[in-house]
Amino acid sequence: MQTELFEVDPLSDNRKLYARAAEALGAGALVGIPTETVYGLGADALNPEAVARIFEAKGRPSFDPLIIHVHHGSEVEKYTAVPEGLKDLVHTLASRFWPGPLTLVLPKADIIPDIVTSGLPTVAVRVSAHSAMRGVAKALGRPIAAPSANRFGHISPTSASAVQKELGGSIEMILDAGACSEGLESTIVRPVLDEKGKPSLELLREGPVTREQFRNLVKVVRRKPSCRPVSEESPADAPGQLTSHYAPRKPMLLLEPGENFAPVEGVKYGLLSYEGTSALAREGDWAEVVAMSPGSGRLAEAAVRLFALMRQMDENEAIDVIVAESVPESGLGRAIMDRLRRASAVRE
Ligand code: TXA
Ligand code: MG
Repeated sequence: MQTELFEVDPLSDNRKLYARAAEALGAGALVGIPTETVYGLGADALNPEAVARIFEAKGRPSFDPLIIHVHHGSEVEKYTAVPEGLKDLVHTLASRFWPGPLTLVLPKADIIPDIVTSGLPTVAVRVSAHSAMRGVAKALGRPIAAPSANRFGHISPTSASAVQKELGGSIEMILDAGACSEGLESTIVRPVLDEKGKPSLELLREGPVTREQFRNLVKVVRRKPSCRPVSEESPADAPGQLTSHYAPRKPMLLLEPGENFAPVEGVKYGLLSYEGTSALAREGDWAEVVAMSPGSGRLAEAAVRLFALMRQMDENEAIDVIVAESVPESGLGRAIMDRLRRASAVRE
């Protein structure tokens, strides 16, 4: 299959292009679509055959459910069945964080096919801040099911060329709007009633919307870790239950705060440094040193660059093993450390 690439021009009216992408989706195609977080691999969420192609193209197990993208918060009630006791909270979150990098896990409406949710009674939904994702969803008139546009378990794509490398030849179209402005996947929360019947939030995935931003709005509770293995009968009901994720092909080693680096003789290492100015970066014997936030140590900049730098090091043949420095684990740093830990997790 030939994958067609179209440029989204941020300064002009892209409606014709969005209509063309929507037409393709309506005919069952897969389209790489930019969002502010990472590029998504979109299909018409109400077409089970098209959605099945997402799992096939990514090599993703069918028990890992998808996020649906709608063009406006007002669409959410068509696709979900929010209980009375949670309506105010959902409204507050939607008006505070949408459009933006927040995904809500809500009880699903019957119209959402089971293949989207892996049979779960809930559906993950968000309104992206990127006009391309919203524009295509609006033109389609239906929600777009879209996971990150990478092969299962790999590094999420933050540029169209990364989508091309991951999925070129197995999808119909990619919309190229340049680099993503956030660089990390959306924060995922599930509004729930706590044991006293009070609305609260389970934080399922750390992301660009930080815990601190929920403070003063709602109580955030830790999701009880589930020990059960995920499978067809027991789908993933939170992200990251599948151990290794966001991972380069090469082994990656994360140095937790305070942990020393002990190189093995003969192995060529590359350093994914936070600022590039640490003693480790200056004094080590590295085949390559890259900095997430050169010189300034800004978490937002580190987040935007993280996946592209992991990809760059993965492609550098002079490196055998990628070593990553920790970043401060507060605010956005929690989401970055979550991705670094998963990328360096022991693979099954
Ligand atoms: O920023 C993002 O969220 C990107 C862009 C494209 O929107 N999408 C994304 O999708 O990261 P994906 O499929 O790579 O990650 C979504 C995660 C999965 O790990 C899945 O397990 C979880 O969301 N998820 C989906 N539906 C769920 C549900 N009903 N309950 C709990 N977790 C769910
Ligand atoms: Mg993903």
